[in-house]
Amino acid sequence: MSLPRMVGVFGGGRMGSGIAQAFLTSGSHVIVVEEGPEAAERARARVGDGLAKGHADPEALARLRTTSDPGELRPCELVIEAVPEDAALKAQVFALVEKAAPGAVLASNTSSLSIGALAAGLAAPERFLGLHFFNPVPVSALIEIVTGPRTDPALVTLAQEWAAELGKTPITVADSPGFASSRLGVCLALEAMRMLEEGVASATDIDTAMTLGYRHPMGPLRTTDVVGLDVRLAIAEHLARELGPRFEPPRILRDLVAAGHLGRKTGQGFYTW
Ligand SMILES: NC(=O)c1ccc[n+]([C@@H]2O[C@H](COP(=O)([O-])OP(=O)(O)OC[C@H]3O[C@@H](n4cnc5c(N)ncnc54)[C@H](O)[C@@H]3O)[C@@H](O)[C@H]2O)c1
Repeated sequence: MSLPRMVGVFGGGRMGSGIAQAFLTSGSHVIVVEEGPEAAERARARVGDGLAKGHADPEALARLRTTSDPGELRPCELVIEAVPEDAALKAQVFALVEKAAPGAVLASNTSSLSIGALAAGLAAPERFLGLHFFNPVPVSALIEIVTGPRTDPALVTLAQEWAAELGKTPITVADSPGFASSRLGVCLALEAMRMLEEGVASATDIDTAMTLGYRHPMGPLRTTDVVGLDVRLAIAEHLARELGPRFEPPRILRDLVAAGHLGRKTGQGFYTW
């Protein structure tokens, strides 16, 4: 097995707990670092619930350790950062990890920040890359491997092997705004919103064009409801700044977010849930 025997996950929220679960069920030991003892306990419960739902063998949970002490990361060969999407916070975390586990490969689960920019403060940027998992991690089949300008090519090959051992398919993407997944996914969704604004068709019919016509499992508007309209607005604004006005968020998206209609989580988005 090429998977690291000991993996650290910094931040055990929605993504971090799923990432921990994926490595545990594939045989690794995992240490999850959280903000404080109570948050560490909550992370333990999240991972435990996920393992139980996935009918994992009891040994998997026995390989989990949760803590609020980053010093415990010392034996880790790989540490994946999954704290909130805030560049300054992530930089603080990287500094702690490089001190605690100086030999470890360091990865970020960022969904939008530049891997090159995140690597700027690192002592060993060649041992750093993006490992972008998808939600929910245990059932999602994709890992987007994002190579920074100074990432060692041998590390990219290793990460591709890890992805396969986790039962996932890796794609390898250069460090660019929105990587491959968000850039294409948001592009399609913004065009669907503009079509809805222009009265081209109903939300259901626009989505059905993609589900039946192109075999997408979900249409772009329903996907936006599931992801959260606020999340997609933030990504569109970021892509508009980085890539130009073709990613400018349509009025309908801004209006729905301003009205608090964020999709499935609030009960109303392009659909009523
Ligand atoms: N949610 C998604 O669908 C998704 C998908 C792909 C990537 N991502 C990315 O994954 C990352 C995490 O997102 P999430 O949805 O899991 O967020 P989340 O808020 O569910 O989890 C973040 C966790 O980090 C912990 N945390 C915060 N500050 C910390 C600190 N200083 N030390 C240790 N732990 C700390 C929080 O307590 C929380 O449990 C973000 O970069 C996000 O962009 C999210």
